[in-house]
Amino acid sequence: MSGVFRKKTADASGAESSALADVVSALGNSAIVAVTDAKGRISYVNDMFCAISKYSREELLGQDHRIIKSGRHPREFFRDMWRTISGGNVWHGDICNKAKDGSLYWVDTTITPFLDKAGKSHKYIAIRHDITARHNLAMFKEETLALANHELRNPLTTVYAAVVALLSGEAGPLSDDAVEFLTIAKKSCRRMIELVEKFLTLDALEAGKLEFRRERVDLGELLQEAVEAAGLACGGEPNRVTLAPTSLVVVADRNRLMEVVVNVISNALKFSPPDAPVEVSAERFGDQARVRVRDRGPGIPKEFRRRIFQRFARAHGVTERGSGLGLNISKAIIEGLGGSIGFETTPGEGSTFFFELPREGADSQRN
Ligand SMILES: Nc1ncnc2c1ncn2[C@@H]1O[C@H](COP(=O)(O)OP(=O)(O)OP(=O)(O)O)[C@@H](O)[C@H]1O
Ligand SMILES: [Mg+2]
Repeated sequence: MSGVFRKKTADASGAESSALADVVSALGNSAIVAVTDAKGRISYVNDMFCAISKYSREELLGQDHRIIKSGRHPREFFRDMWRTISGGNVWHGDICNKAKDGSLYWVDTTITPFLDKAGKSHKYIAIRHDITARHNLAMFKEETLALANHELRNPLTTVYAAVVALLSGEAGPLSDDAVEFLTIAKKSCRRMIELVEKFLTLDALEAGKLEFRRERVDLGELLQEAVEAAGLACGGEPNRVTLAPTSLVVVADRNRLMEVVVNVISNALKFSPPDAPVEVSAERFGDQARVRVRDRGPGIPKEFRRRIFQRFARAHGVTERGSGLGLNISKAIIEGLGGSIGFETTPGEGSTFFFELPREGADSQRN
């Protein structure tokens, strides 16, 4: 956790002490400041320290700094901190403290040790900023996503499976109306599951937690599967899609790549007329493979092109056709796999979305 490792020299001179006093007083307007001796006994606190800790200055001075310890960090956390600062190094990290009334607050903390002539730490100045709101928001987001994952995705998956079973006639014959209603329920359920999954993917991407496998992916097979999946998702329209055969092989994460291709093909199907063809192909592009999905839809409006890869961006406004997350996630996935994604479009004539990915070396001779 320790940050910059910088040795502080002795602060013996009067001029230096007075400059230090000025700095501390200026800092007092924007930061929570405390000074302790080598043992951690408080010798100075500013008003912001008193305000956030809810202790008076009199209650704090001379006290061990542990008076505001929350118990939220493991013992090693403070052991490492003390090892760093008593060794003359600056420590930086986020700490959860406890105020006098028992409430917890989070502070971004930098502790700078000051060394005496013998080179030993004899004083520590801690400068802190209140990050409680930011921390609580991050916790709220984490908990909401965990809740969405367990309390939303799991029951939705169960409902989806039940609807699919009913539709397949497992519970007996259905009237035409029942089939119609259940088909609507199935589609809505699928959309909700996909939305929760997209939120989870976005969160993982944002936190840099999304890991990509590097495996051999046969593009011909993957594209065929993606055409079928996108056709099903868009209401059984795979016949509109033509797929040019290919034996190209790329190095990618198969599941993540599938997500991208299904999104781009679904977009081509969703945003073009129901009888307009969609062409999917793959070609060599230097040491990469380029996948292209061409549609004969309305094209992408000029003013929207700049925003198309942004989160929640939709040219057609808020409709049930999409959440505006697919291309944002697709771009992050393709870039995470070492490739790039783009599009060409002519209003009134259609769009071609394409992406490139590294080809598997051994297969570079086969095509
Ligand atoms: N082939 C296309 N032709 C015309 N417009 C498109 C095309 N592909 C994408 N768009 C526009 O770009 C927007 C963003 O696409 P994106 O895939 O990110 O989201 P979505 O399809 O709306 O929702 P999601 O993919 O999250 O279900 C779409 O809503 C649509 O307005
Ligand atoms: Mg989409």
